[in-house]
Amino acid sequence: MTPVFAALVVLVTVVLAAYFYMQRHTVSPGWKVKTTIPGLQSNDPQNGNFTDIAIAGSLHELLVNLHKTHGPIVSFWFGPKFTVSVADPDMFKELKAVFDRPPELFRLFEPLIGPESIQYANGFEGHKRRKLTDASWSHDMLRHFCENFNELGEEMSTKLSSLPKMEHIPLSQYTLALTIKGLSQTSFGDYFKDDEHCHNMKHNYEICWEEMESRLGGAQMVEGSERQKRYDEALGNMRAMVKDIVQKRKENPPKPHERAFIDLLMENEDIYDESKLLADATSYMVGGFHTSGYLLCWTIYYLTLNQEVQEKVYQEVLRVVGSKESIGPEDIPQFQYMKQVMNESLRLSILAPWAAKVQEVDISLGGHSIPKGTPVITALGVMSQDEKIWPNPKKFDPDRFSPENVKGRHQFAFQPFGLPGRICPGYRFAYYELTVFMAILIRNFKWTLVEGQLVESVYGLVTSPKEEVWVHIEKRQ
Ligand code: HEM
Repeated sequence: MTPVFAALVVLVTVVLAAYFYMQRHTVSPGWKVKTTIPGLQSNDPQNGNFTDIAIAGSLHELLVNLHKTHGPIVSFWFGPKFTVSVADPDMFKELKAVFDRPPELFRLFEPLIGPESIQYANGFEGHKRRKLTDASWSHDMLRHFCENFNELGEEMSTKLSSLPKMEHIPLSQYTLALTIKGLSQTSFGDYFKDDEHCHNMKHNYEICWEEMESRLGGAQMVEGSERQKRYDEALGNMRAMVKDIVQKRKENPPKPHERAFIDLLMENEDIYDESKLLADATSYMVGGFHTSGYLLCWTIYYLTLNQEVQEKVYQEVLRVVGSKESIGPEDIPQFQYMKQVMNESLRLSILAPWAAKVQEVDISLGGHSIPKGTPVITALGVMSQDEKIWPNPKKFDPDRFSPENVKGRHQFAFQPFGLPGRICPGYRFAYYELTVFMAILIRNFKWTLVEGQLVESVYGLVTSPKEEVWVHIEKRQ
């Protein structure tokens, strides 16, 4: 090789290395943000990687691909915003106390929950509101709700018992109806003991939710379209109901033991003016209805596929409550195996695929610098499928959550309700309510799947089955 040719080879190698280094380490539209975090370059200054999200199927699925390729910390562009995603227990631990959430990642839901929703409230304002409302889901409140959950579980059992033998039952319709009633009656009071009110709420809420799901899937709303009118009307009806409840509770105040979430909002007018009250009343419905409804649906679905687990749950129910008429607050902590089953259902269904944090200061995470104001996604769903933490991750195995197995696992490996700094306010409620419902439904029926179904998942803000899950029940003696 001549010296000139050798020099040329070295030069080309250096230029190429520099080019690939820049490709890997500099991602921004217009090269504005320099980062060492691997990931995607922006395709467009406004839309960033929205096309890549659409091609992947959902943000969760894009994150799965990115983390698989690049490891526990990755970057991409959420529209015009440089965004980081982490899927690692140690990094979760470092973020554990962060409260603030990047509003821009959740703007899509603003027309439904309102700009004043808790979803967008950071800093002092957010803390103040959470401190006030978290009391609605305390252990003491849950003890009060127990009787209500029993009534609802029994009501659904009676309805199911009246169906013809081997009827095909649309599982998610039933579980959503149950959890919508559970949260409405315990948070907004007796108003929702009236079946017509409950039906109206469910009907209008579902129109609004479908609209949010469509937008999440990229379907834009045309101004003045029938779709827009239907949505506006449903949202208007929901808000009118909340106003009606407030009016009725003002005229006829609840007794001390009947006070609920809505009363806390009404009594604290310095924190909750009318628009904030409407925003948070809706936000808690949005936060609670589909999450708990689909968790119940996924759990029963997994039990139909794993009959031996269903039998173990049944045996536990018999052991804890036997033929006792109703399940009491003292029984709830005894359902150890049921909790394992719920946790494994949360993990395997990837019920809430991701959450997000933001900080007002530059930070360092996983050896990389992250500029202040950068949204940091906690990829809860990516981590719940990490085979280093969960061997054979697609297998439904509640023993992963046995006390012995939990002991050996990183404390932050499983965070289905988000990190402690701003954990979901409804997490105790969800476990408690579903324990009562499951105990009643499994004590009364054996559940099987109607044959020939392929149940696929849609990963929105909540993971739902793509199509209805059809089941059979057989009454137990
Ligand atoms: C299985 C059921 C549920 C799951 C998996 C779930 C999951 C989550 C997650 C991951 C977050 C975000 C936390 C973060 O930002 O780090 C969240 C927030 C929230 N959840 Fe839940 N949730 C469930 C049930 C409920 C219920 C029953 C309610 C109603 C009482 C509720 C109301 C909310 C609200 C209002 C927020 C936002 C709170 C805030 O902005 O501070 N969730 N949930």
